[in-house]
Amino acid sequence: MKKIIALIAALTFVGSVTAMAAGPETITLTAKNGNVTFPHQKHQKDIGIACKECHGDKPGKIEGFGKDKAHALCKECHTKKNPDTAKCGFCHKK
Ligand code: HEC
Ligand code: HEC
Ligand code: HEC
Repeated sequence: MKKIIALIAALTFVGSVTAMAAGPETITLTAKNGNVTFPHQKHQKDIGIACKECHGDKPGKIEGFGKDKAHALCKECHTKKNPDTAKCGFCHKK
């Protein structure tokens, strides 16, 4: 019984660490011309982009993240993948 409880505890721990490591499911990035709801985990899983493409070697807050960095990162890739997704209103929703 003790072993089973320990196993469950261990699995729960691994589960929560995995969830934390992936960062938030969605991130709301505020912008005066309409906030951007960024599906963070969808980019990792369904779209299949590696952490390092956006974070380099250290996933977490991106230093100096704002319009310039966001557009260089988000808009650049969207333009390449599908120009329709690089239109302002695709990201900015009023
Ligand atoms: C398509 C780009 C992109 C990918 C891929 C990506 N992230 Fe992020 N991530 C971001 C952005 C943008 C932020 C918000 C940065 C900020 O606010 O400074 C962020 C924030 C985070 C945060 C910090 C959240 C907070 O508010 O403290 C963590 C942790 C994180 N990401 C982990 C990961 C991990 C781990 C992976 C890979 C499994 C990953 N990210 C993949 C773009 C991405
Ligand atoms: C390396 C490529 C890449 C980067 C970087 C990237 N995206 Fe994306 N994103 C995609 C692709 C591919 C799709 C799917 C587009 C489609 O549906 O045609 C997508 C879809 C989206 C969607 C729509 C998701 C849905 O549910 O339909 C939003 C919103 C979005 N991205 C915002 C962002 C924001 C904000 C950033 C920067 C923080 C970002 N993306 C960075 C490639 C990228
Ligand atoms: C692929 C997603 C994406 C597209 C497309 C996009 N933006 Fe952005 N934009 C962002 C993100 C993310 C931010 C940064 C929000 C933050 O500072 O956290 C931002 C920030 C901004 C800001 C700064 C807002 C503020 O309050 O400081 C302006 C202005 C802006 N964008 C205008 C535009 C215009 C105009 C277009 C179309 C030509 C456009 N954006 C297209 C994602 C996008």
